[in-house]
Amino acid sequence: MDTSTIWTSQLWWYLARAGGIVAWVLLAASMIWGLLLSTKLLGRRPHPAWVTDLHRFLGGLSVVFTAVHVAALVLDSYVSFGPAEVLVPFASHWRPAAVAWGVIATYLLVAIEVTSLLRHRLPRRAWRATHLLSFPLFGLGTLHALTAGTDAGTVAWQLVLAMAGATVLGLTAARQVRTRPYDGAGDGLKGGPGDATAAAGDARQAQLARARAVAGSRRRR
Ligand code: HEM
Repeated sequence: MDTSTIWTSQLWWYLARAGGIVAWVLLAASMIWGLLLSTKLLGRRPHPAWVTDLHRFLGGLSVVFTAVHVAALVLDSYVSFGPAEVLVPFASHWRPAAVAWGVIATYLLVAIEVTSLLRHRLPRRAWRATHLLSFPLFGLGTLHALTAGTDAGTVAWQLVLAMAGATVLGLTAARQVRTRPYDGAGDGLKGGPGDATAAAGDARQAQLARARAVAGSRRRR
């Protein structure tokens, strides 16, 4: 094998690893930011638009880097990954379970991203139920990162995974304690980052209804 071939094959492998690590870090950051919003540890609403935009942006960027990760794995010739291996859980001959967690995590990530982009066209309950899949997504993504990767044995990487995992667990516990049961549509789900926008919308609707009622009563007088 000449040097350029070695360099190219190594390039895809490094890109796959870097893509996976960046995708996971962005996912963890999006989870942590979303939980800071839903626990209201960032302060009571209303938040400026960039606060919720940042949560969305981090999630969207995680999708982009997951695509880079998977594309580089397919282009890398060291382990042969074809469409079946990256689309079907447990189809990979190489570490089938470890890779399957990544495949399932990708489906959850795509479902959450697509429903978030279509949020205003979907029933709120459907969006919220799908958004709660971010918890199994983070769990599976972390399990995948711990079991599939070359860097899984690296102490620094294990520390990053443990610290982010502990932060997400702690904030999830705080979310259970701090959020009131959601009473907007009677679906029994607890508050999430989307609530800030939704509640602001509800408040605006109520204000409009009150203004209309006052105007109506003045006209009748
Ligand atoms: C179709 C979906 C996926 C497949 C087939 C897949 C496959 C793989 C494989 C084969 C590896 C080992 C690479 C190596 O170290 O040589 C790996 C590592 C990794 N993957 Fe995935 N993955 C997928 C989705 C994801 C997702 C959604 C995330 C996170 C958001 C992710 C994050 C990672 C991380 C952090 C590593 C460790 C990289 C390292 O140790 O250097 N993967 N993945």
